[in-house]
Amino acid sequence: MKYGHFDDDNREYVITNPATPFPWINYLGDKDFFSLISNTAGGYSFYKDAKFRRLNRYRYNNVPMDDGGRYFYINDGDSVWNPGWKPSKTELDHYECRHGMNYTKISGEKNGIKAECLFFVPLGTWAEIQKITLSNTSNEVKKFKFFSYNEWALWNAATDMENFQRNFSTGEVEVEGSVIYHKTEYRERRNHFAYYSVNTEIDGFDTDRESFVGLYNCHANPEVVLSGKPKNTVAHGWSPIASHYKEIELQPGESTDLIFVLGYVENAEDDKWESKGVINKTKAKEVIAKFNTTAKVEAALSELRAYWDDILDRFIIDSGDERLDRQVNIWNQYQCMITFNFSRSASYFESGIGRGMGFRDSNQDLIGFVHQAPERARQRVIDIASTQFPDGGCYHQYQPLTKGGNNEVGGGFNDDPMWLILGVTSYIKESGDFSILDEMVPFDNDESLAQTMFNHLTISFNHVVNNLGPNKLPLIGRADWNDCLNLNCFSMNPNESFQTTENNSEGSKAESLMIAGLFVYYGREYIDLCKVIGKEEEAARAQQEVDNMVEAIKQNGWDGEWFLRAYDFYGNKIGSNENEEGKIFIESNGFCTMAKIGDDEGMCEKALDAVKERLDTKYGIVLNNPAYTTYRIEMGEISTYPPGYKENAGIFCHNNPWIMIGETELGRGDQAYEYYTKIAPAFLEDIQELHKTEPYVYSQMIAGKDAFKPGEAKNSWLTGTAAWNYAAITQHILGIRPALQGMLIDPCIPTKWDGFKVSRKFRGYTLNIEVKNPNHISKGVKQITIDGKPIEGNLIPVLEKGKTYNVNVTL
Ligand code: BGC
Ligand code: NOJ
Repeated sequence: MKYGHFDDDNREYVITNPATPFPWINYLGDKDFFSLISNTAGGYSFYKDAKFRRLNRYRYNNVPMDDGGRYFYINDGDSVWNPGWKPSKTELDHYECRHGMNYTKISGEKNGIKAECLFFVPLGTWAEIQKITLSNTSNEVKKFKFFSYNEWALWNAATDMENFQRNFSTGEVEVEGSVIYHKTEYRERRNHFAYYSVNTEIDGFDTDRESFVGLYNCHANPEVVLSGKPKNTVAHGWSPIASHYKEIELQPGESTDLIFVLGYVENAEDDKWESKGVINKTKAKEVIAKFNTTAKVEAALSELRAYWDDILDRFIIDSGDERLDRQVNIWNQYQCMITFNFSRSASYFESGIGRGMGFRDSNQDLIGFVHQAPERARQRVIDIASTQFPDGGCYHQYQPLTKGGNNEVGGGFNDDPMWLILGVTSYIKESGDFSILDEMVPFDNDESLAQTMFNHLTISFNHVVNNLGPNKLPLIGRADWNDCLNLNCFSMNPNESFQTTENNSEGSKAESLMIAGLFVYYGREYIDLCKVIGKEEEAARAQQEVDNMVEAIKQNGWDGEWFLRAYDFYGNKIGSNENEEGKIFIESNGFCTMAKIGDDEGMCEKALDAVKERLDTKYGIVLNNPAYTTYRIEMGEISTYPPGYKENAGIFCHNNPWIMIGETELGRGDQAYEYYTKIAPAFLEDIQELHKTEPYVYSQMIAGKDAFKPGEAKNSWLTGTAAWNYAAITQHILGIRPALQGMLIDPCIPTKWDGFKVSRKFRGYTLNIEVKNPNHISKGVKQITIDGKPIEGNLIPVLEKGKTYNVNVTL
């Protein structure tokens, strides 16, 4: 069963059956104001922070699923229906949802009335625009009643769903003309309110949920809509909503546009009131006026489209396979922007109240995003580094609104510091802007402790060196990349979270081979950076440390056929053939082969062969094998998941690319690409029903071979999977890899490929690259010419800005 299809020309995914296996969502907004919107118009908006500035109420894990959103109801006398099918679920004559780049179009048609809804957040605007085009497609005059509906959240999304003894008394609104203002708590500490407007006179309204829906009805059958009569209620406490009512009459063939604006305003303390108790609405009125005609809305949509043209113009592949092209040119890049904006905060699997911006997550997100907007990436790495502690350790998360480290989660994840080296070097490689290294960056957000960004990198590097265990391998701390390998946690209390509970690592011997590989890989990046900026002594010192680590891995981290995963608290092996369960893991074998540790001794080939034999499945590579079947107190959360799910032998799409990249290091392009296509959504269209989540973006996890339903995905959108797969395909398989001193060309492709073309905008110039593969090999550049002139080697040096170069590559 298929629920939709790609429309590449419009860069849209078109959903034709609203009853998708799970809500298939999209994101609106570019910087400050964001919305989540499902294919049935569910979802919510927020300003900057999905926890502290939630505009509308959304009930996660509700029955029915995906309840709450921007709903429009049509009562035509015969039936009550919604253009997006939900919540009434009245059968439509026609339904279509088009998710595009930061906009969504949903249209429904019934009994000769068509409603086309366009949703987007104009660039730089603190509001969602909803343009509804109502048309009469019949031969008779149509008269019907039209209602909008939006339920306000009382700002803090967490307390909004728990503190009812207070919440039911605080709600306040104002209604002025066709605009409904939500001003709960504005009278005291808040400097912000929200509003919902429509660009026409209305015939009524409601702002009290109980009056509109009815205490014992639900969104599918609100009392007011059924009766066809608004009550003009003004909410006092309980649950404030915003609903406009309009009577519409359309001649055959006639159509009309209604433009709704759902917005957010902040006022200065001394400018909050127009008169006593009446809020100052000036800013809201400005935004409403800016988008009060169809022409203005369409112009804003064109701007949004142009913005995306510019972003997606920076890397365009023409491979001859439309699935690969749409994956690389459109959807993977789009998802990278979304993960950059949201980290792991708000999706249909992340409630927006749990997590802020992850230190390691946001650094990794950069590798898929940095080419899209290097200036934003620059600010981001500075924000991230500012939360680092003076000893190199890091707050694991920070809050986007305050940019301060999150005390509830704290630190002690010993992989975190190394990811900063990835973040900063990725930024420099893309932009060529070495000046970021001289930027003064605080520690723990304390300006008085500021040091240069370069020093942050040195301190990050040293944090690993200063925290080695008995095997001269990195101590794991609370956890490494795998948040669920909690080797110092020892939790028997079901009321505590593995993620936040205090660890006791006193006397611990728990070491991580994943961090060891990570250290070698990014330690070398640090060394290259030191050399390029003339810090030879530091480069030599760092080289010594990296060499020591390589030795320690070879001596104490090799299990005979693959790399170990870790040593536990007591110094016992994890990820060894000696273990009964969890004999082999993906992470250490990924990073150690990416870093080519022990390659001369054949370790990398053996390790990747073992991964293929033991971890590869039809749907991707599982994280570990055999899965843990019992709770192991000395391992923590990993062993709490039933076999085949999440970190316990699920297919973690985030680190499949580490194996792909490892394969490209060995020159095995066929294998690398096979792994790529197994999990890339554009290649999974035929299994939409099993896969369940959106067919246009990656999910964090696909159920592994031990699971009840192998191949079923969960946790779509907000995952490092997006950035890593983008890096794997563009930089390592296609091999177009930004370097400190130019662009490296080093493809490792399937042998059957004749070649491919890429247009790449880089540091202000354009490279039109054509790779030819006459001998059908995977890897090994024979010759490169730039505008017909051969160059030495495979690094294209930095070229002149503003120009376009033809680069011909022969393998
Ligand atoms: C999940 C991990 C996640 C961690 C931190 C765990 O429950 O399994 O994937 O990294 O929580 O939020
Ligand atoms: C999701 C988290 O966001 C990420 O930081 C972590 O590395 C993975 N899960 C694996 O546990």
